[in-house]
Amino acid sequence: MKYETIHNLQIPKIGFGTWTIGGETAPDLSVEERSLSALRSALELGYTHFDTAEYYAAGHAEELLGQAIRASGLAREVLFITSKVSPEHLQFDDVLRSCENSLHRLGLDYLDLYLIHWPKLGMKLPETFRALNQLVKAGKVKRLGVSNFNLKLLKESVALSETPLLTNQVSYSLPDRTCVENGVLAYCQENEILLTAYSPVKRRNIKSNKTLQTIAKARGVTPEQIALAWLVQQPRVISIPMSFNPQHQAENLAAAEIVLTETEMEQLGK
Ligand SMILES: NC(=O)c1ccc[n+]([C@@H]2O[C@H](COP(=O)([O-])OP(=O)(O)OC[C@H]3O[C@@H](n4cnc5c(N)ncnc54)[C@H](OP(=O)(O)O)[C@@H]3O)[C@@H](O)[C@H]2O)c1
Repeated sequence: MKYETIHNLQIPKIGFGTWTIGGETAPDLSVEERSLSALRSALELGYTHFDTAEYYAAGHAEELLGQAIRASGLAREVLFITSKVSPEHLQFDDVLRSCENSLHRLGLDYLDLYLIHWPKLGMKLPETFRALNQLVKAGKVKRLGVSNFNLKLLKESVALSETPLLTNQVSYSLPDRTCVENGVLAYCQENEILLTAYSPVKRRNIKSNKTLQTIAKARGVTPEQIALAWLVQQPRVISIPMSFNPQHQAENLAAAEIVLTETEMEQLGK
Protein backbone atom coordinates (compact mmCIF):
# COMPACT_ATOMS: atom_id res chain seq x y z
CA MET A 1 0.00 0.00 0.00
CA LYS A 2 1.20 3.51 -0.82
CA TYR A 3 0.69 6.25 1.76
CA GLU A 4 0.42 10.00 1.81
CA THR A 5 2.45 11.47 4.65
CA ILE A 6 0.91 14.58 6.11
CA HIS A 7 0.74 16.22 9.56
CA ASN A 8 2.86 13.34 10.96
CA LEU A 9 0.30 10.86 9.70
CA GLN A 10 0.48 8.12 7.09
CA ILE A 11 -2.81 7.80 5.25
CA PRO A 12 -3.36 5.12 2.61
CA LYS A 13 -3.58 6.53 -0.90
CA ILE A 14 -6.59 4.24 -1.44
CA GLY A 15 -9.33 3.89 1.15
CA PHE A 16 -12.77 2.29 1.03
CA GLY A 17 -16.04 4.21 0.58
CA THR A 18 -19.26 2.99 2.18
CA TRP A 19 -22.03 4.80 0.31
CA THR A 20 -24.70 2.09 -0.49
CA ILE A 21 -23.34 -0.22 2.23
CA GLY A 22 -26.44 -1.22 4.19
CA GLY A 23 -28.74 0.81 1.93
CA GLU A 24 -28.85 4.28 0.43
CA THR A 25 -30.80 6.92 2.34
CA ALA A 26 -32.41 4.29 4.63
CA PRO A 27 -31.41 0.83 5.86
CA ASP A 28 -32.16 -1.82 3.25
CA LEU A 29 -32.14 -5.35 4.64
CA SER A 30 -31.93 -6.83 1.15
CA VAL A 31 -28.30 -5.62 0.87
CA GLU A 32 -27.27 -6.63 4.42
CA GLU A 33 -25.35 -9.81 3.56
CA ARG A 34 -23.79 -8.31 0.45
CA SER A 35 -22.68 -5.29 2.46
CA LEU A 36 -21.12 -7.28 5.29
CA SER A 37 -19.40 -9.50 2.80
CA ALA A 38 -17.99 -6.43 0.95
CA LEU A 39 -16.66 -4.98 4.21
CA ARG A 40 -15.19 -8.35 5.22
CA SER A 41 -13.31 -8.77 1.95
CA ALA A 42 -12.10 -5.14 2.04
CA LEU A 43 -10.67 -5.69 5.54
CA GLU A 44 -9.11 -9.01 4.50
CA LEU A 45 -7.54 -7.43 1.43
CA GLY A 46 -5.85 -4.81 3.60
CA TYR A 47 -7.96 -1.69 3.37
CA THR A 48 -7.46 0.30 6.56
CA HIS A 49 -9.07 3.68 5.77
CA PHE A 50 -12.87 3.49 5.73
CA ASP A 51 -15.03 6.45 4.82
CA THR A 52 -18.56 6.56 6.19
CA ALA A 53 -21.21 9.09 7.29
CA GLU A 54 -24.25 9.37 9.53
CA TYR A 55 -26.19 9.98 6.29
CA TYR A 56 -25.30 6.63 4.69
CA ALA A 57 -28.25 4.25 5.08
CA ALA A 58 -29.36 6.59 7.88
CA GLY A 59 -26.54 5.34 10.13
CA HIS A 60 -26.74 1.68 9.16
CA ALA A 61 -23.52 1.86 7.11
CA GLU A 62 -21.74 2.85 10.33
CA GLU A 63 -23.39 -0.03 12.21
CA LEU A 64 -22.29 -2.57 9.61
CA LEU A 65 -18.78 -1.12 9.44
CA GLY A 66 -18.51 -1.40 13.24
CA GLN A 67 -19.73 -4.99 13.07
CA ALA A 68 -17.20 -5.88 10.35
CA ILE A 69 -14.33 -4.20 12.23
CA ARG A 70 -15.12 -6.15 15.41
CA ALA A 71 -15.36 -9.42 13.47
CA SER A 72 -11.99 -8.72 11.80
CA GLY A 73 -10.19 -8.70 15.16
CA LEU A 74 -7.96 -5.87 13.86
CA ALA A 75 -6.49 -3.51 16.42
CA ARG A 76 -8.11 -0.08 16.48
CA GLU A 77 -4.76 1.68 15.87
CA VAL A 78 -4.24 0.07 12.47
CA LEU A 79 -7.52 1.52 11.20
CA PHE A 80 -8.33 5.03 10.06
CA ILE A 81 -12.05 5.74 10.32
CA THR A 82 -13.68 8.80 8.83
CA SER A 83 -17.29 9.81 9.42
CA LYS A 84 -19.30 12.92 8.62
CA VAL A 85 -21.88 15.16 10.24
CA SER A 86 -24.87 15.98 8.02
CA PRO A 87 -25.76 19.55 7.00
CA GLU A 88 -28.93 19.55 9.15
CA HIS A 89 -26.82 18.90 12.27
CA LEU A 90 -24.37 21.79 12.16
CA GLN A 91 -25.54 23.59 15.31
CA PHE A 92 -23.33 23.24 18.40
CA ASP A 93 -25.33 20.64 20.36
CA ASP A 94 -26.30 18.74 17.21
CA VAL A 95 -22.66 18.29 16.17
CA LEU A 96 -21.79 16.83 19.58
CA ARG A 97 -24.84 14.54 19.46
CA SER A 98 -24.17 13.40 15.88
CA CYS A 99 -20.61 12.47 16.76
CA GLU A 100 -21.70 10.52 19.86
CA ASN A 101 -24.28 8.67 17.76
CA SER A 102 -21.74 7.82 15.05
CA LEU A 103 -19.29 6.53 17.67
CA HIS A 104 -22.05 4.46 19.26
CA ARG A 105 -23.12 2.93 15.92
CA LEU A 106 -19.50 2.18 15.01
CA GLY A 107 -18.74 0.84 18.48
CA LEU A 108 -15.63 3.05 18.66
CA ASP A 109 -14.21 5.44 21.28
CA TYR A 110 -12.89 7.92 18.73
CA LEU A 111 -12.98 8.82 15.06
CA ASP A 112 -9.73 9.41 13.21
CA LEU A 113 -11.36 12.07 11.07
CA TYR A 114 -14.67 13.91 11.28
CA LEU A 115 -15.97 15.96 8.36
CA ILE A 116 -18.75 18.41 7.69
CA HIS A 117 -20.50 16.43 4.94
CA TRP A 118 -21.90 19.34 2.92
CA PRO A 119 -22.06 23.07 3.57
CA LYS A 120 -25.53 24.46 4.24
CA LEU A 121 -26.83 27.83 3.19
CA GLY A 122 -26.96 30.09 6.26
CA MET A 123 -24.83 27.75 8.41
CA LYS A 124 -22.79 29.37 11.17
CA LEU A 125 -19.34 27.88 10.61
CA PRO A 126 -17.79 29.43 13.77
CA GLU A 127 -20.44 27.67 15.90
CA THR A 128 -19.95 24.37 14.07
CA PHE A 129 -16.18 24.56 14.49
CA ARG A 130 -16.56 25.46 18.16
CA ALA A 131 -18.25 22.07 18.58
CA LEU A 132 -15.77 20.27 16.32
CA ASN A 133 -12.80 21.77 18.20
CA GLN A 134 -14.40 20.65 21.46
CA LEU A 135 -14.69 17.09 20.11
CA VAL A 136 -10.96 17.11 19.34
CA LYS A 137 -10.12 18.40 22.84
CA ALA A 138 -12.33 15.68 24.34
CA GLY A 139 -10.48 13.00 22.34
CA LYS A 140 -13.62 11.90 20.49
CA VAL A 141 -12.15 12.96 17.16
CA LYS A 142 -8.48 13.04 16.18
CA ARG A 143 -8.68 15.33 13.16
CA LEU A 144 -11.12 17.60 11.39
CA GLY A 145 -12.02 18.14 7.77
CA VAL A 146 -14.74 19.29 5.41
CA SER A 147 -16.41 17.95 2.31
CA ASN A 148 -17.86 19.61 -0.77
CA PHE A 149 -16.45 22.98 0.35
CA ASN A 150 -15.57 25.65 -2.20
CA LEU A 151 -12.37 27.67 -1.85
CA LYS A 152 -13.92 30.45 0.22
CA LEU A 153 -15.51 28.07 2.74
CA LEU A 154 -12.36 25.94 2.82
CA LYS A 155 -10.25 28.99 3.77
CA GLU A 156 -12.78 29.94 6.47
CA SER A 157 -12.60 26.38 7.84
CA VAL A 158 -8.80 26.44 7.93
CA ALA A 159 -8.98 29.62 10.02
CA LEU A 160 -11.61 28.20 12.40
CA SER A 161 -10.07 24.77 13.01
CA GLU A 162 -7.78 24.78 16.05
CA THR A 163 -5.96 21.73 14.68
CA PRO A 164 -4.61 21.79 11.11
CA LEU A 165 -7.54 20.94 8.82
CA LEU A 166 -6.75 17.54 7.33
CA THR A 167 -8.89 17.29 4.20
CA ASN A 168 -11.51 18.58 1.84
CA GLN A 169 -13.34 15.58 0.39
CA VAL A 170 -14.69 16.41 -3.06
CA SER A 171 -15.68 14.76 -6.31
CA TYR A 172 -12.55 14.39 -8.43
CA SER A 173 -12.01 12.06 -11.35
CA LEU A 174 -10.85 12.16 -14.96
CA PRO A 175 -14.26 13.39 -16.11
CA ASP A 176 -14.83 15.74 -13.14
CA ARG A 177 -12.11 18.39 -12.75
CA THR A 178 -14.20 20.94 -10.83
CA CYS A 179 -11.64 21.06 -8.00
CA VAL A 180 -8.91 21.94 -10.49
CA GLU A 181 -10.99 24.64 -12.14
CA ASN A 182 -12.15 26.27 -8.87
CA GLY A 183 -8.68 26.34 -7.29
CA VAL A 184 -9.48 23.91 -4.45
CA LEU A 185 -6.88 21.33 -5.48
CA ALA A 186 -4.08 23.90 -5.83
CA TYR A 187 -4.98 25.46 -2.46
CA CYS A 188 -4.89 22.03 -0.78
CA GLN A 189 -1.53 21.20 -2.36
CA GLU A 190 -0.04 24.54 -1.30
CA ASN A 191 -1.39 24.35 2.25
CA GLU A 192 -0.71 20.80 3.45
CA ILE A 193 -4.34 19.70 3.11
CA LEU A 194 -5.37 16.35 1.67
CA LEU A 195 -7.79 16.31 -1.20
CA THR A 196 -9.87 13.15 -0.80
CA ALA A 197 -11.28 12.27 -4.22
CA TYR A 198 -14.73 10.70 -4.10
CA SER A 199 -16.58 9.00 -6.96
CA PRO A 200 -13.21 8.33 -8.65
CA VAL A 201 -14.43 5.61 -11.02
CA LYS A 202 -18.18 6.00 -10.96
CA ARG A 203 -18.71 7.94 -14.15
CA ARG A 204 -19.69 5.88 -17.14
CA ASN A 205 -17.52 7.98 -19.45
CA ILE A 206 -14.44 6.37 -17.93
CA LYS A 207 -15.31 3.63 -20.39
CA SER A 208 -15.36 6.03 -23.35
CA ASN A 209 -12.03 7.76 -22.58
CA LYS A 210 -9.76 6.55 -25.41
CA THR A 211 -6.46 7.60 -23.76
CA LEU A 212 -7.44 5.68 -20.65
CA GLN A 213 -8.32 2.60 -22.70
CA THR A 214 -5.00 2.73 -24.58
CA ILE A 215 -2.82 3.14 -21.47
CA ALA A 216 -4.75 0.44 -19.58
CA LYS A 217 -4.45 -2.00 -22.45
CA ALA A 218 -0.71 -1.37 -22.88
CA ARG A 219 -0.11 -2.01 -19.18
CA GLY A 220 -2.49 -4.97 -18.88
CA VAL A 221 -4.61 -3.33 -16.18
CA THR A 222 -8.18 -1.99 -16.16
CA PRO A 223 -9.22 1.55 -17.12
CA GLU A 224 -10.54 2.04 -13.56
CA GLN A 225 -7.07 1.24 -12.18
CA ILE A 226 -5.47 3.83 -14.46
CA ALA A 227 -8.14 6.37 -13.49
CA LEU A 228 -7.28 5.77 -9.82
CA ALA A 229 -3.52 5.75 -10.42
CA TRP A 230 -3.82 9.12 -12.20
CA LEU A 231 -5.57 10.55 -9.14
CA VAL A 232 -3.38 9.23 -6.36
CA GLN A 233 -0.13 9.95 -8.16
CA GLN A 234 -0.95 13.64 -7.71
CA PRO A 235 0.54 15.20 -4.57
CA ARG A 236 -1.84 15.43 -1.60
CA VAL A 237 -4.55 13.42 -3.39
CA ILE A 238 -5.99 10.24 -1.89
CA SER A 239 -9.14 8.41 -2.98
CA ILE A 240 -11.90 6.25 -1.52
CA PRO A 241 -13.45 4.04 -4.23
CA MET A 242 -16.32 1.76 -3.26
CA SER A 243 -16.96 -1.72 -4.61
CA PHE A 244 -19.02 -4.73 -3.61
CA ASN A 245 -16.86 -6.88 -5.83
CA PRO A 246 -13.71 -8.35 -4.16
CA GLN A 247 -11.87 -8.42 -7.47
CA HIS A 248 -12.56 -4.73 -8.05
CA GLN A 249 -11.59 -4.04 -4.43
CA ALA A 250 -8.23 -5.75 -4.97
CA GLU A 251 -7.69 -3.98 -8.29
CA ASN A 252 -8.41 -0.62 -6.69
CA LEU A 253 -5.87 -1.25 -3.93
CA ALA A 254 -3.29 -2.38 -6.48
CA ALA A 255 -3.88 0.78 -8.55
CA ALA A 256 -1.87 2.76 -6.01
CA GLU A 257 1.22 0.75 -7.00
CA ILE A 258 0.99 1.71 -10.68
CA VAL A 259 3.55 4.35 -11.56
CA LEU A 260 2.44 6.38 -14.57
CA THR A 261 5.09 8.14 -16.64
CA GLU A 262 5.09 11.93 -16.90
CA THR A 263 3.86 11.61 -20.48
CA GLU A 264 0.99 9.34 -19.44
CA MET A 265 0.03 11.75 -16.64
CA GLU A 266 0.02 14.62 -19.13
CA GLN A 267 -1.97 12.70 -21.74
CA LEU A 268 -4.60 11.76 -19.15
CA GLY A 269 -4.63 15.27 -17.68
CA LYS A 270 -5.57 16.89 -21.02
N1 LIG B 1 -18.53 13.46 0.60
C1 LIG B 1 -19.48 13.22 -0.28
O1 LIG B 1 -20.40 14.02 -0.50
C2 LIG B 1 -19.44 11.94 -1.05
C3 LIG B 1 -20.22 11.79 -2.22
C4 LIG B 1 -20.12 10.59 -2.93
C5 LIG B 1 -19.28 9.58 -2.46
N2 LIG B 1 -18.56 9.75 -1.31
C6 LIG B 1 -17.68 8.68 -0.77
O2 LIG B 1 -16.83 8.23 -1.81
C7 LIG B 1 -17.01 6.82 -1.99
C8 LIG B 1 -16.78 6.45 -3.45
O3 LIG B 1 -17.63 7.18 -4.30
P1 LIG B 1 -18.84 6.48 -5.08
O4 LIG B 1 -19.29 5.28 -4.33
O5 LIG B 1 -19.80 7.57 -5.36
O6 LIG B 1 -18.20 6.13 -6.49
P2 LIG B 1 -17.01 5.18 -7.01
O7 LIG B 1 -16.32 4.51 -5.89
O8 LIG B 1 -16.22 5.99 -7.95
O9 LIG B 1 -17.82 4.14 -7.88
C9 LIG B 1 -18.53 3.07 -7.34
C10 LIG B 1 -19.01 2.22 -8.50
O10 LIG B 1 -17.91 1.87 -9.32
C11 LIG B 1 -17.82 0.45 -9.44
N3 LIG B 1 -16.40 0.11 -9.32
C12 LIG B 1 -15.58 0.35 -8.26
N4 LIG B 1 -14.34 -0.11 -8.52
C13 LIG B 1 -14.38 -0.63 -9.76
C14 LIG B 1 -13.41 -1.27 -10.59
N5 LIG B 1 -12.14 -1.45 -10.19
N6 LIG B 1 -13.80 -1.72 -11.82
C15 LIG B 1 -15.07 -1.54 -12.23
N7 LIG B 1 -16.04 -0.95 -11.50
C16 LIG B 1 -15.70 -0.50 -10.28
C17 LIG B 1 -18.65 -0.14 -8.34
O11 LIG B 1 -19.30 -1.31 -8.79
P3 LIG B 1 -18.95 -2.78 -8.15
O12 LIG B 1 -19.54 -2.78 -6.78
O13 LIG B 1 -19.64 -3.69 -9.10
O14 LIG B 1 -17.47 -2.92 -8.18
C18 LIG B 1 -19.67 0.95 -8.06
O15 LIG B 1 -20.80 0.77 -8.91
C19 LIG B 1 -18.44 6.57 -1.48
O16 LIG B 1 -18.68 5.21 -1.21
C20 LIG B 1 -18.46 7.47 -0.26
O17 LIG B 1 -17.78 6.86 0.83
C21 LIG B 1 -18.61 10.92 -0.62
